[in-house]
Amino acid sequence: MSEPYAESGTESYASRAAALDATDELAKLRAQFVLDDTVYLDGNSLGALPRSVPGRIEDVVRRQWGSLRIRSWDESGWWTAPERIGDRIAPLVGAAPGQIVVGDSTSVNVFKAVVGAVRLAGGGGGQGGGARGEARDEILVDATTFPTDGYIAASAARLTGCTLRPVAPDEVPDALSGRTAAVLLNHVDYRTGRLHDLPSLTAAIHEAGAVSVWDLCHSAGALPVGLDEHGVDLAVGCTYKYLNGGPGSPAYLYVRRDHQPRFDSPLPGWNSHADPFGMTPDHVPADGALRGRVGTPDILSMLALEAALEVWDDVSIEAVRTKSLALTDFFLECVEAYVPAGAVESVTPADHGERGSQVALRCADAGEVMRRLIARGVIGDFREPDILRFGFTPLYVGFADVERAAGVLGGLF
Ligand SMILES: Cc1ncc(COP(=O)(O)O)c(C=O)c1O
Repeated sequence: MSEPYAESGTESYASRAAALDATDELAKLRAQFVLDDTVYLDGNSLGALPRSVPGRIEDVVRRQWGSLRIRSWDESGWWTAPERIGDRIAPLVGAAPGQIVVGDSTSVNVFKAVVGAVRLAGGGGGQGGGARGEARDEILVDATTFPTDGYIAASAARLTGCTLRPVAPDEVPDALSGRTAAVLLNHVDYRTGRLHDLPSLTAAIHEAGAVSVWDLCHSAGALPVGLDEHGVDLAVGCTYKYLNGGPGSPAYLYVRRDHQPRFDSPLPGWNSHADPFGMTPDHVPADGALRGRVGTPDILSMLALEAALEVWDDVSIEAVRTKSLALTDFFLECVEAYVPAGAVESVTPADHGERGSQVALRCADAGEVMRRLIARGVIGDFREPDILRFGFTPLYVGFADVERAAGVLGGLF
């Protein structure tokens, strides 16, 4: 039997694609998604719809809500959904159960995590920080971050009496000092697709006595993360990209088990109370990951996500990573073959150790080029000022899609 995704000599790219698809152990999963004859390379923005979701939503709305009504909080497992679905995401990001809760947007979870991190570090000069005058008064933030993380980190810094310092991820080890309270980094850069070195950066952050917060939006569901293995302190991520949870599906918050007793959420709503129905005036935080909850969960979105995650039942994240790298390698190779020299330039690292599951191509007039690609059935997206972004979701993208996308792109020049 041939090795999966092995090089196969000098055949045409189309026949190589067919051979790669024929030996792809994940190819059968595509049937679990609603897709058409376009090439969908935008799963790093909004994952495709899993076939299990519409029926589940129908049941949640008609039976659980329409018929059981309030009883569903217990009988349909609505109340415990944030922890239950967190435990379903946990193996995909290398976390043992009991450390992830689902709910709120990524932005809100970034806020909880960054303020929580400063408090864990005993840092900050103001409310909620350590003793006034304590040295840990700096938050480092990925200077190339998706904007929401930067905006929220700036507000978290103001609230905790810290200074915010934007730093490129590679420069974080040199920027760390005894003043650093928390560091917020992206695992994969949303524009370039660059994968940052989570194990070594986390180790450096710990060596400086600071607390790490990782944004996993562009890595969860695309590659192994190893949260527990690498001792990550806090992490957040969305579920509408590689986890296919649907537009606006709730995000999640990971709080490492040994930090949980000291995790002091800046949004202590009644859902994170030890006795939520005790209705007491003071907040007594619940034990465990539940501390990350805030208010009433968004049940419709959350249970759509739970159905979407069933796709992963027999899928290993390692197999997904192997295919992801094969897809992006093959795309880069086809682009080189089909697109006239100099028309595009990849800003995604060639090195597998530094590549997420997307390819970003710099190109003149990229907005117009993407519009024409979409009109020809190849769906990626455009990021300012000059980036064509293509995301590769190994659960439903095949090698023939990749070859076709590169061919259509080449035809535009
Ligand atoms: C890295 C990263 N963080 C955060 C977000 C957005 O967060 P929210 O779910 O709050 O819209 C995105 C959205 O694409 C993202 O790519």
